[in-house]
Amino acid sequence: MQESSSLISSAAKKLKEGKIVAFPTETVYGLGADISIPSAVDRIFEIKERPINHPLIIHFSKISQLNYWAQEIPKAAYLLAKKFWPGPLTLILPRTNHVSLNVTGGQNMVGLRIPDHPTALTLLDAMGPNKALAAPSANRFGRISPTTAAHVFDELGHKVDMILDGGSCKIGLESTIVGFKNNSVIVLRPGGVSLTKLAEVLDEEVIFLEKKQSDIRVSGSLDSHYAPLTPLEVWPIKSLWDRCCEIEKLGLSPILLGWSPEFITKKTNKKYICFPMPNTPTDYGRQLYATLRQFDNGQYDYLLLEAPPDTPDWIAVSDRLQRASFTVSTS
Ligand code: TXA
Ligand code: MG
Repeated sequence: MQESSSLISSAAKKLKEGKIVAFPTETVYGLGADISIPSAVDRIFEIKERPINHPLIIHFSKISQLNYWAQEIPKAAYLLAKKFWPGPLTLILPRTNHVSLNVTGGQNMVGLRIPDHPTALTLLDAMGPNKALAAPSANRFGRISPTTAAHVFDELGHKVDMILDGGSCKIGLESTIVGFKNNSVIVLRPGGVSLTKLAEVLDEEVIFLEKKQSDIRVSGSLDSHYAPLTPLEVWPIKSLWDRCCEIEKLGLSPILLGWSPEFITKKTNKKYICFPMPNTPTDYGRQLYATLRQFDNGQYDYLLLEAPPDTPDWIAVSDRLQRASFTVSTS
């Protein structure tokens, strides 16, 4: 789904006046500001209630502009950009002077990405040459990212100047963030591009380096992030029913979300409220945030999620569940 060209032109005009426009990308909705207007960038931090040392990803529309925003670009970065842009991949590279420090949270490195959504690309083109948009996910700091325009409206509606509606995001989880260090490629946040796909293109193994092992800061890797207000717990299927029973004994109401054949078949025999989730990582990822929002409405005291499979293709989902969870148990 694409917004009409007149709405997109009016959004570009607002952005160039320093206003804030939320727009769709293929991953999640972004909260956009023209990076050349410091007061607009400052407003992003205010609206999100985000600490100012947490860097913003900048979005642009053409690979040929990459060296306008970044320098000392390794070969591997070009390789990945050519293969995955437009798409759910963010590259962390040394910034040029065209990117000011208020965008990067004071760091010399900048996160860059070309989003794969027709509305986002038309908007970026309408901004004109050498223009880029800073766009964090359009949610309050630490909360669930929005995957529809209605989610953005619920979260921040009265604070933004315009929301472009591009339908539901087709990926539903944020971009994969990649950094480069001593000739190696490091994944700082797993996301829309899988580690396997990165490894295929680079012809080398790619590792997800969790925050504790990395000196590159990623706010999405804070221990609590992407979180609903309702306590969320992740349990292997064998412990899920027991945990549910314990909670019910306390007079509280849980809802269970599972994906495995065992969950799907057993749920009909149980008296608990059960919600089936998709059993592939891409479908699960696409639906996750919308589902968490749907049930984070005060109706339930606990969201109990069946742990996803412990395989590389589920890393992005597992990462988000871990950060969204109140307690995580693998026992
Ligand atoms: O899919 C996405 O990446 C979405 C859409 C809107 O593009 N954006 C997004 O932005 O998720 P945000 O701000 O919610 O998360 C961006 C992450 C943060 O964890 C931030 O710390 C990290 O990217 N990041 C940005 N610039 C960075 C930099 N220079 N160095 C290290 N991490 C950076
Ligand atoms: Mg975010």
